[in-house]
Amino acid sequence: MKLIELVPLKKISDLRGSMIAIENNKDIPFEIKRVYYIYDTPKGVSRGFHAHINLIQLAVAVKGQCTFILDNGKERASVVLERPDQGLIIRSHMWREMYDFSDDCVILVLASEHYDESDYIRDYSCFLDAISSS
Ligand code: TYD
Repeated sequence: MKLIELVPLKKISDLRGSMIAIENNKDIPFEIKRVYYIYDTPKGVSRGFHAHINLIQLAVAVKGQCTFILDNGKERASVVLERPDQGLIIRSHMWREMYDFSDDCVILVLASEHYDESDYIRDYSCFLDAISSS
């Protein structure tokens, strides 16, 4: 499985501007149970630093840009999200960190499950243990 999985999102553009629609199980490989967005991130702040046991997510920079680092315990790769017509799939058991948010950055996240703190792995060495035993 590729570390950085980018999915193109179809832009519907006309003289009035642009729109993007995302449908369950069609444009993305899961059913959406939750939507949240991250914005107003102060300069120099980083977020994430966790993995999930079951959750799959799609992150889209609907405005501005930020850098995502994904780490599967063996490899680490980074990608700059800066296009509203491109989504990053973040699978379960994938450590993620987010850096370098632009002032105007809005990251939309579509998630396959409701919020559940017990699905988080917030300690990197616990993450490495979890993937070596999975
Ligand atoms: P967290 O996922 O740790 O943020 P990030 O990875 O972007 O740094 O979430 C931050 C806080 O918000 C944490 O206390 C949990 C809470 N939260 C919810 O209540 N519901 C949600 O859907 C999410 C994503 C977070």
